[in-house]
Amino acid sequence: MKFQAIRGMKDILPEETGQWRMVEDLAREFFPRFGFHEVRSPILEKTELFIRGIGETTDVVEKEMYTFTDRSGDSLTMRPEATAQLCRVYVEHKLYNQPGGWKVFTMGPMFRHERPQKGRFRQFHQIDAEVMGVDEGLVDAELIGMLVAFLEACQVGRVTVRLNSLGCKECRLAYREKLVAFLKEREEGLCDECRRRLELNPLRVLDCKQPSCQAIVKDAPSSADHLCGKCESAFELVRRGLDSLKVEYNLDNRLVRGLDYYVGTTFEVVSDKLGGQDAVCGGGRYDDLIEEVGGPPQAATGFAIGIERLLLLSDLEPPPEEADLFMAMLGDQAEEMGLKISHRLRLGGLKVVLEAEGKSLKAQLRRAGKMGVRAVLILGPEEIKAGQAVLKIMEGGEQQTLDLDSLNQTLPRILHKKA
Ligand code: HAM
Repeated sequence: MKFQAIRGMKDILPEETGQWRMVEDLAREFFPRFGFHEVRSPILEKTELFIRGIGETTDVVEKEMYTFTDRSGDSLTMRPEATAQLCRVYVEHKLYNQPGGWKVFTMGPMFRHERPQKGRFRQFHQIDAEVMGVDEGLVDAELIGMLVAFLEACQVGRVTVRLNSLGCKECRLAYREKLVAFLKEREEGLCDECRRRLELNPLRVLDCKQPSCQAIVKDAPSSADHLCGKCESAFELVRRGLDSLKVEYNLDNRLVRGLDYYVGTTFEVVSDKLGGQDAVCGGGRYDDLIEEVGGPPQAATGFAIGIERLLLLSDLEPPPEEADLFMAMLGDQAEEMGLKISHRLRLGGLKVVLEAEGKSLKAQLRRAGKMGVRAVLILGPEEIKAGQAVLKIMEGGEQQTLDLDSLNQTLPRILHKKA
């Protein structure tokens, strides 16, 4: 039997991990400047958390979750996203009432059983940031400002911020009625899926990619025109904040997002280089979710960046991982000695290549040249007898003889490394 990775799940090989690490390191360095701290949480949660949090009629909950019953008979789900989970963390550990809110970020794999295609996987990775316990206003602008600056630091090229406000529960209810009335009149023109959505989740019709549906919704009433006074001024504050940070955005009243918990400001960052799956990031406010999962009423906002999509856009190039030293060894005794010496040098901080494969000196030097190492340490029977080794610096070819006993002191100095 030939084993292969599960469809839609990818191995990330050493050639790629350098770029992954750069992005992750950048997030770990960047977000704390804005007051965010890292959290790490399990992959598995009780299924009920996501049903309640994300919404029963969303695609994610209806068709995409990896759900199973464990040996204790509990229904568990591999997290499809981090927001509902982080609300659970916030409530479980009673992290309320923190000045400035609870500001956190997390990174890791998420799981959705979607149809795999470019930029869409069944196991994918997100960098997720959340602020819990702070009302709408400048914090949204601060968050989106951080997001855009981070994407810039990741060298993603030109991206567009789409911004909308869905309003609070009350404005949403009134808007929903108007929208349903509008769509009902044009129901025969909608695709089958949207006709179903009309009953269950009419806002999602706005998001449908079918040309027939798009033609209808382009004239649909807009959520932004149905905001109550409070939501209107909150949204204005967000826009003013973004203007003052010089963050460009496009107001887009078709932006509804695929998860049910959003209220107020929602946003996405898209790039036309990504094709059909064009969103590199999505986010918004979810002021009712914390209460929904058992906590007190607390306002909250956040976003998640898809790392795979970010990397499709990023021009970041990891620095080459060149080794400091190649051990060229001639004969069994030299190979044994080489093992001991390289272990000691590696513990001392040098990056050492050890390949005890019994090749000729010429072949070993050729290999070292190809790898781009700085220097080769040659160990042959003669050298060992004398308690010495020959160091050859690759650039320029200069050679010198070194005592084996003091290599841990001499080599780092010669190779300009700290001892
Ligand atoms: P989302 O829009 O479902 O939002 O996902 C956010 C991002 O994750 C997307 O823009 C995309 O880059 C990436 N993504 C989603 N699904 C896939 C997939 N199947 N394959 C590859 N990448 C994918 C959320 O997850 C919300 N929790 C965001 C949020 C945080 N809202 C508030 N706080």
